[in-house]
Amino acid sequence: MAGEYILQESDFLVSQTDEKGKILFANEDFCKVAGYTINELIGKPHSIVRHPDMPKAAFKDLWDTVQSGKIWTGYVKNATKDGGFYWVYATVYPNIACESGKCGFLSCRRKPSREEIAEAEQLYKTMR
Ligand SMILES: Cc1cc2nc3c(=O)[nH]c(=O)nc-3n(C[C@H](O)[C@H](O)[C@H](O)COP(=O)(O)O)c2cc1C
Repeated sequence: MAGEYILQESDFLVSQTDEKGKILFANEDFCKVAGYTINELIGKPHSIVRHPDMPKAAFKDLWDTVQSGKIWTGYVKNATKDGGFYWVYATVYPNIACESGKCGFLSCRRKPSREEIAEAEQLYKTMR
């Protein structure tokens, strides 16, 4: 059913990517909320859950931050497989699972408050 999926307090969505943003791992909460099976996610670009309301600049900031070795935090509106959406507060960690000089990334997401979502919505309306 499309519409907003509101996270539960106990939801904790985790995904891991390679250095290009290709999904290497997603936990059960991620699969449940986004509406995909693990097999549908592995190997796909993380933009598979991208929602068109998200400004490009937010992801540029995410990539610039983690590629310079720093942790990025921010609010993200994501799309579910069935055309719905869900808001998360994400923390993205760089330098995960390094192999032959290439490092991946890890994102952990929890439920944001309605006030936090409202603020992010307003901010993102002013961005591109
Ligand atoms: C660890 C990690 C987690 C990410 N999580 C998301 C996410 O939940 N939703 C999303 O739209 N993009 C996420 N991204 C950013 C995507 O890689 C991508 O840059 C973004 O969806 C914009 O798509 P585009 O680069 O094709 O325009 C994540 C990137 C990394 C490295």
